[in-house]
Amino acid sequence: MSVSADGRRNLVQWLLGGGLAASIVSFRYPALKFMNPPEVPEAAVNEASVGKAAGFKANAGKIVKFGSRPVLLIRVDETEWRAFSATCTHLNCTVQYQETSRQIWCACHNGYYDLNGRVVSGPPPRPLDEYTVHVRGEEVVVARRA
Ligand code: FES
Repeated sequence: MSVSADGRRNLVQWLLGGGLAASIVSFRYPALKFMNPPEVPEAAVNEASVGKAAGFKANAGKIVKFGSRPVLLIRVDETEWRAFSATCTHLNCTVQYQETSRQIWCACHNGYYDLNGRVVSGPPPRPLDEYTVHVRGEEVVVARRA
């Protein structure tokens, strides 16, 4: 049995086409996997120790880590503390404490929140999520609200 020249040409073209497709997939697949990593469930964190009270000055804010999330910890005065999610409710920028206005400010679109996390002005659609702050001895602990 003999194979015609056209048959051989078609077979070679088919093999080359398959190799090219395999090459494209082998280059693109890792890149696509890198850009879309699998969802990893976050370990539940209910409280986090964030440092010594003496390390925080009054009328100042600091971003601390609560699990993998940023939390804005504010020492209002010597005895009063507040903590909020540091993620703006508008488009997820990180908020910061403004000492002069004594408000929480989002630089992305000039959103302002008060010291209860409520929206004062700007585009944020809802208040910041609030956390509880405990001072245990010298240690400052941020906890999820019940
Ligand atoms: S992301 Fe904060 S005001 Fe737009």
